Amino acid sequence: MAVDATIEDQLASLELVSDPYPLYDELRERHPVYWSQGWNAFLVTRYDDVVDVLRDSRRFVNAGRYTLFMEQLPPERRVEFGQFYEYWTKPGFNLSDPPDHALVRTLAKRFFTRRAMERIRPRVQALVDALIDDVIGTGILSLHQHPDQLRLLRNDPSLLPPAIAEMLRYEPPFQQDWRRSATDTEIRGVRIPEGSILRLMLAAANRDPRVFDAPGAFDIRRDPNRHIAFGFGIHLCVGAPLAEVELDIAFNTLLRRLNSLQVATDTLEWHPSNGPRGLKTLPITFQPGPRVSGAPRPN
Ligand code: HEM
Repeated sequence: MAVDATIEDQLASLELVSDPYPLYDELRERHPVYWSQGWNAFLVTRYDDVVDVLRDSRRFVNAGRYTLFMEQLPPERRVEFGQFYEYWTKPGFNLSDPPDHALVRTLAKRFFTRRAMERIRPRVQALVDALIDDVIGTGILSLHQHPDQLRLLRNDPSLLPPAIAEMLRYEPPFQQDWRRSATDTEIRGVRIPEGSILRLMLAAANRDPRVFDAPGAFDIRRDPNRHIAFGFGIHLCVGAPLAEVELDIAFNTLLRRLNSLQVATDTLEWHPSNGPRGLKTLPITFQPGPRVSGAPRPN
C-alpha cells in the first residue's frame, strides 16, 4: 500500500491538533480511504463512506477493537490505559455489536432512569463535564472568530439550537469513531483486510462539501445540518438530548452574562490528542451582564 510521507509526517506531528482541518480536506479529496502506516489504520474521511460504515454493523464491528488498540501500544503505555481498557471492554453497549447491542440498549432505557443515574452520578458527571467543557470552549472560540455570527445570535436567541448544532459540526468533540472490519472487504476500491481498524473521521465528514454548502464557513443558520458529531446508526449517542439541553442552558447563560466577550490570548492551547478535541484553557474578558431576575445571589 502506497504511503504518502507528507501525510504521515502530519499525522505523526503534535502540531496537528492546532488545526487538523487542512489535512482532513486533503485526505477527503485525494485519499478518501487512506492507509496510515503510523496510525496502523484506514482513515475514512468522506461523509457518505463514514455513514455507510456506521450503518453496516455486520461488516464493521466493535468487537475486539480495543484489544487491537492495546496491542499496538508500547508496554509502558498499556499500563496507563489499563483501567480505561478494563472499563470499556466490560459488557456494555458502547462496544457491543448486534444482537447483544439491541438488548443492552433496550435495558439502557431503564439504566437512564433518574434513580439509576443518581447511583452513577459521579461518573456521568465527569463524562458530561469533560464533553461539555470541550464544546463550551470551542463554541466560544468559534463565535469569537465569527463576530457576525455572534451578533446574529445575540439579536435572535431562538437561533441557539441551530448554533449549537453548528458548533458540534464545526468542531466535533470526538474527531473520530472506530470500527474493525469483520471480513475482507473494500471501500471506494481500496481493499480492507479482515481485522483492520477503520478510523472514521467524523470531523472530516462534517466538512464534506458533497453534503454541506461552504463547509469551512461557521454558519449558525445552516439548514439542514446533518452533522454526525453524535455518531450515526445503532450506536448514535444516547446522551445527545442531555448534552444538547446542557449546552442550551450553558450558552443561554453565557450570552446573557458575558457582554463584550473577548478572547484574551493569541496562542491557543489544545489538548494533545487526535481523538477528543478541546482547548486546555481559553482566557476571556467580558463585562458581566444581567442575572435572571429573582435568582438568589451567592453568599
Ligand atoms: C457533546 C457531548 C457528546 C458527544 C459529542 C458524544 C458523542 C458520541 C458519539 C460520536 C457516539 C457514537 C460512538 C460509536 O459510534 O461507537 C456516542 C455514543 C454514546 N454516548 Fe455520547 N456524546 C456526548 C455526550 C454524551 C453523554 C452526556 C452521555 C451520557 C450521559 C453519552 C453517552 C453515550 C453512550 C452510552 C454511547 C453509546 C451508545 C451505543 O453504543 O449504542 N454521550 N456519543
